[in-house]
Amino acid sequence: MRCTIEGVIFAPDPYCYRCPFGREYPGCDFECARYLEYVLKNEWHVARFVFEPVVGTNGIIVPLKEYYEIIGEIAEKYEILLIADEVMSGWGRTGEWFAVNHYKLKPDIITTAKGATGAYMPLGITATTEEIYGFFEENFFAHGHTYSDHPMCLAPVPAVVKEFKRLNLLDHVKRME
Ligand SMILES: Cc1ncc(COP(=O)(O)O)c(C=O)c1O
Repeated sequence: MRCTIEGVIFAPDPYCYRCPFGREYPGCDFECARYLEYVLKNEWHVARFVFEPVVGTNGIIVPLKEYYEIIGEIAEKYEILLIADEVMSGWGRTGEWFAVNHYKLKPDIITTAKGATGAYMPLGITATTEEIYGFFEENFFAHGHTYSDHPMCLAPVPAVVKEFKRLNLLDHVKRME
């Protein structure tokens, strides 16, 4: 199985209900996660694994804990970056600030948006590690936006965090789950 579009190789969904490999948990040995190693062995110049920690539009797929343990081990072994798309799954939607917080996985980059401002202002955020940030301090990357870091768009973020805490929303989501 190989699925590519212009340099992007798609990984199979960790979807036990309709396993893309026709396997059954727990006998499957997480073939969906191990596929990443297969790709890394057979392709070259793979830089990163981009994933939605809890997949949204493909059908709310909640991977089992072992899935990300294996992904984390493979990423470390092959020194690829882990980029978590938390646009939909971030900001308390899963009962943690970010869905990756449910797993033993430390992404190198998190992208997020929607809930960051409660949708009152448009804002996209890229968060990363000191190590990656530091690289761009030394190696200038010319990429600008007209309205980057706009105070009006940033202002709702601390208000959102405050409201989450005041209303104890993370616990509420956990209870509703
Ligand atoms: C999971 C996910 N990633 C990325 C995006 C794109 O986000 P934006 O429109 O903030 O660029 C969306 C938008 O719905 C999304 O749901």
